[in-house]
Amino acid sequence: MESSLVVLALAWLAALAFISKKIRERNPPKRIPPGPKPWPVVGNLHQLGTLPHITLHFFAKKYGEIMQVKYGSRTVVVASSPKMAEEFLKTYDSLFASRPPLASGKYTGYDFQDMTWAPYGPHWRKARRIYLSELFNPNRLDSFEYIRVEERLTFFASLYAQTGNPIILKNYIRRYTLSSISRVVLGDKYFSDHKTEDSLISISEFHGMIDEWMVLNGVLNIGDWIPWLRFFDVQGYVKRMKVLTKKFDKFHNYVLADHKAKKDLEANNFVPKDMVDVLLQMTEEDTDPEVKLTVEAVKALVHGRDISMLGQDFTLLPFGSGRRRCPGYNLGLRIVRTTVANVFHGFNWKFPEGVKPEDICMVERYGLTTCPEVPVTVIPEPRLPIHLYQ
Ligand code: HEM
Repeated sequence: MESSLVVLALAWLAALAFISKKIRERNPPKRIPPGPKPWPVVGNLHQLGTLPHITLHFFAKKYGEIMQVKYGSRTVVVASSPKMAEEFLKTYDSLFASRPPLASGKYTGYDFQDMTWAPYGPHWRKARRIYLSELFNPNRLDSFEYIRVEERLTFFASLYAQTGNPIILKNYIRRYTLSSISRVVLGDKYFSDHKTEDSLISISEFHGMIDEWMVLNGVLNIGDWIPWLRFFDVQGYVKRMKVLTKKFDKFHNYVLADHKAKKDLEANNFVPKDMVDVLLQMTEEDTDPEVKLTVEAVKALVHGRDISMLGQDFTLLPFGSGRRRCPGYNLGLRIVRTTVANVFHGFNWKFPEGVKPEDICMVERYGLTTCPEVPVTVIPEPRLPIHLYQ
C-alpha cells in the first residue's frame, strides 16, 4: 500500500514537472532589462535629481545599453547606445512612434494637436505632411532667404555696436533666431522692443513665454508618473502650463485675426506670403474628410559629422530619427550653420578682463533643451572691413 502511494506521488510529480516545462516553453519568462532597484510608489524618481539626463548616463554605465527605470508606477526603458537607438528608432520605429500623453502635451500642446505631442495617427501624419511639403520644403525656404539675410545683418550690426563691451551673446542669438523664425512663420515680428499701446507684446515677454514653454515641456511632472497625485499638482507645473497657454492663445488669436483681415482685404489678389497664410489657405481648401485642418489645428502647428546629422547614424541624433524626426531640421540647420560661421568669421571673441576659460560655469539647466545655468559673457571685436557690418 505504502509503496503504491509513493509510486503515485512520483507519477504526480513527474506529470507536474512535465506540464510546467511545457508551460515554460510556451511562455518563456519575460526578459526584463536590468536597472536600479525601485522604491514603492516613487520608483526611481527620487534618484533622478535635477539633471535626469546625467543621472541616466551614470545608470547606463552601470546597467548597460538597455535598462529599465521606474518613473513612479510607470516603467521607462532607456536605450543608450547607437545600436539600441537603432533598434527603437529604426527596426521597431512604428511601435514607438507615439509619445507618452503627458500634461505638457495636454496643456501646452493644444490637447495633443501640436505635432510634437500628437499621437502617432492620422492627425500627426497630416500635420507632418503639411510641415514637410508645404512649410519647410527647400523652395519655400529659399524664398525666405532674404528674411534670413536681413535679420542676419541686423544681428551683426547689433554685435558691432557692442564692440569692446562685455555682452551675453546668447541673448543676441536668441533675438536673431526668434526674429528670423517669426518672420518666416508669421510674416511679421508681432512684438516690439518695448510694449506700447499698439504692440501686442514686448520682445522680453515673448522670450519669457518661449523660455517657459521650453522649461515646461521638459519638466518631470510628478502627476504624469504617479497618477493619483495628478489632482494635487504638487510642483505647480500644470498651473503654470495653463497660464502660459492663455498667453499663447491670445497671441495666436491676434496673429490669425490679423492675417485673416489682410486676406479678406486682398480678396482675389491674395497670395500667401508666410506660413500662417499658407495654413489659412489650406483650412479653406481642405476637403480631407478624415482629418479636417481646423483653425485650432493651425494654432497648434505654428506654435510651434562626416557623421550624418539627419538620423541615419545613431551616434549623433541632434534632430532625432525615424518617424518623429524633427521636420524643421532644414530651417534649423540653415540658421545654425550661417550663424556660427558668421559669428566666428565676423568677430574675434575675448573674455572680460580677469575672466579665464576655467571660470566659465559648466553647470547645465535642464529643460526641453539644456543650456548653461549661467550664460557666458564675451566681448566682440570686429575683424572685417567696417562696411560689412552696416
Ligand atoms: C537646430 C535646430 C533644431 C534642432 C536641434 C531640433 C531638434 C529636434 C529634436 C531632437 C526633435 C525630436 C525628434 C524625435 O523625437 O525623434 C525635434 C522635433 C520637432 N521639431 Fe525640431 N529642432 C530644430 C529646429 C526646429 C525648427 C526650426 C522647427 C519648426 C519651426 C522644429 C519643429 C519640430 C517639431 C514640430 C518636432 C516634433 C516632430 C514630431 O513629433 O513628429 N524644429 N526637433
